[in-house]
Amino acid sequence: VGPKPLQGKRVLVTAGGTIERIDPVRYITNDSSGKMGFAIAEAARNRGAEVTLICGRTDAAAPNGMRIVRVDSALQMYDAVMSNLPNTDVIVKAAAVADYRPLHQEEHKMKKTSEALTLELTRNPDILQAVGDWNADQLDADKLFVIGFAAETMDVEKHALDKLNRKKCDLIVANNVAAAGAGFGTETNIVSVYASEGLVEHIPQMTKKAVAERLWDIAQARMNRLNDQ
Ligand code: C5P
Repeated sequence: VGPKPLQGKRVLVTAGGTIERIDPVRYITNDSSGKMGFAIAEAARNRGAEVTLICGRTDAAAPNGMRIVRVDSALQMYDAVMSNLPNTDVIVKAAAVADYRPLHQEEHKMKKTSEALTLELTRNPDILQAVGDWNADQLDADKLFVIGFAAETMDVEKHALDKLNRKKCDLIVANNVAAAGAGFGTETNIVSVYASEGLVEHIPQMTKKAVAERLWDIAQARMNRLNDQ
């Protein structure tokens, strides 16, 4: 047997949801289970990659055989991702990052009053956008291969291609989170993979582990083609 297909590649995967604190006992999060990102990280490890997994809040236990960086908030995930970019060849951004966080994080548990409460939110940085912008400034030989995700409920292709261009990704993995058997928390997924020329492949319903294997087949083929140019 020859070398494994991702031998020598440094792969960074983000997984799970972020936690945006309101006060010491309350936070905002989302339905991400982390399963898709974990499956991608494990498949990369099995293919010989050196994997760093940056994960937020998840339901499942983190896989072994890789470096795990635990984070809570989008700001922490941003720092963890950006500081790892110079040591990365491929990045897969499967995490569900909160777009907003509470403007103020209360030091003490908030007391209720008889009044209604308005929570003011502020924008989080878009980590994938920052990665794409960073990558655009690198020399060709140093460029990362960037794989983003898009969770959509309508006009999947239009939004996926828009994201691919705006966030400067090599591939976008789009799933319709409103479809049965796809998206958050489920054991299976149904995704469509897009590149700048359009649809690369529709992956029908299968386990997240099987989707992860197929994604790496697609990514490897395209990375090999880039290397041959
Ligand atoms: O724009 P949207 O959130 O749908 O894009 C999804 C992709 O962007 C995912 O790969 C997700 O991890 C990434 N993202 C991010 N930082 C954000 C929001 C999304 O990295 N603040």
